[in-house]
Amino acid sequence: MSAPLIVLVGPMGVGKSTVGRILAERLGTGFRDTDDDVVAAEGRSISDIFVEDGEPAFRALEKQAVRAAVAEHEGVLALGGGAVLDPGTRRLLSGLRVVYLSMDVDEAVKRTGLNAARPLLAVNPRKQWRELMEARRHLYEEVATAVVPTDGRTPDEVAQAVLHAL
Ligand code: S3P
Repeated sequence: MSAPLIVLVGPMGVGKSTVGRILAERLGTGFRDTDDDVVAAEGRSISDIFVEDGEPAFRALEKQAVRAAVAEHEGVLALGGGAVLDPGTRRLLSGLRVVYLSMDVDEAVKRTGLNAARPLLAVNPRKQWRELMEARRHLYEEVATAVVPTDGRTPDEVAQAVLHAL
């Protein structure tokens, strides 16, 4: 059975897709992102799925997308920021090389605060970020085999740090 070379986890806006593409290029492999897989399978945006069907429906689609990607993809795989909420997904990641790209709340607000396309941050970004980080930090840490802080680093620097951490 094949398995992804590297799985990237971490909060939305931390740069999983940007860093993942850089890593895939450096490693001469492919890049896949479970958010893209859900959007392609559904033919609509993640915001539309949240608004039309609700978060639980999105999580079910995400769970399927993660399972398929882990089974099929051999390159760099980025998971949506909330994928680790699912215990089955966390179990699925055990034994894989999983890198947690971290950032602090100030950095998160700076990077994504005004991005209305992200349904989980629509009301009060700072408060919502603090709650999200508190609820999820330990889940990212639980699945990670390495943690790479991204605060104040460019995507290239983060990719370099990931390669060092492997
Ligand atoms: C989410 C993160 C998003 C996307 C959805 C929910 C989350 O993915 O899956 O908006 O719960 O943190 P990115 O981390 O790729 O932005």
